[in-house]
Amino acid sequence: MLVSGKEILLHADQNKYAVGAFNINNMEIIQAIVGAADELRSPVILQASQGAIKYAGIEYITALGKLVADKYDIPVALHLDHGTDFEEIMKCIRYGFSSVMIDASKYPLEENIERTKEIVKIAHSVGVSVEAELGKIGGTEDQIVVSEAEATFTDPKEAKIFVEETGIDSLAIAVGTAHGVYKGEPKLDFDRIEEINKIIDIPLVLHGSSGVPNDSLRKAVERGICKINIDTDIRATFATAVGDFIRANPEEIDPRKILTPARDAMKEIVKKKIEVFGSVNQAWK
Ligand code: G3H
Ligand code: ZN
Repeated sequence: MLVSGKEILLHADQNKYAVGAFNINNMEIIQAIVGAADELRSPVILQASQGAIKYAGIEYITALGKLVADKYDIPVALHLDHGTDFEEIMKCIRYGFSSVMIDASKYPLEENIERTKEIVKIAHSVGVSVEAELGKIGGTEDQIVVSEAEATFTDPKEAKIFVEETGIDSLAIAVGTAHGVYKGEPKLDFDRIEEINKIIDIPLVLHGSSGVPNDSLRKAVERGICKINIDTDIRATFATAVGDFIRANPEEIDPRKILTPARDAMKEIVKKKIEVFGSVNQAWK
């Protein structure tokens, strides 16, 4: 069942768990994610970055996303991850995404507010939810590169203004995570999550969550995180499984045989994440 991002996140907020938002690029990844969510009766967010849409084609991404949303009896949202381009965001809305992210976090507060407001007005008029970002999350996510020096934590007072001015449905906050592979162990600012959660009343989103220890993820959920974004851990699982299979079976040329262990391994990692996020048996449809 395809639902809006807002519906999925409000349920998570009210029931004190987080929904996994997993990045999708192809059919096998989608099957792994939705297969895991279905087995555990968990709501799930399938999210495509602008890079994923460029790679797979928006027709394929939306057709596959809607297909699995119809096929499985769990709440599924189809979400644009880190939308930086107005036209691209409009295209996703037109093709049937139920949620979009406008990432104007690289701009000063006022400009971030203006760009975000413009998307909110259009998206809300057709029932599509909007996530936006305040603060700068470090690391690399597709075309977005933020160096350690540029990364800045979200200011709680600014967050309140940002949410009130823009009317967004969920807020991505910078609290110590980074996109991509971590060099050391990430240190999350749990007090900041708690403080932001106290003063704003929309669901909070944690980006760059691959490689974050399970205990830290659980603590973040306890303090108010409702959506947890995972990309790198799925990519790494895929690459390792394909590499292992090819090394063990160098003569094999059948893509189905090469990709099956990768799809199984991705499903297992997604199941583990869903258990940590506390969304098992939270599917309400
Ligand atoms: O927007 C996507 C995420 O923030 C993914 O971050 O690749 O570090 O898991 P990750
Ligand atoms: Zn992200």
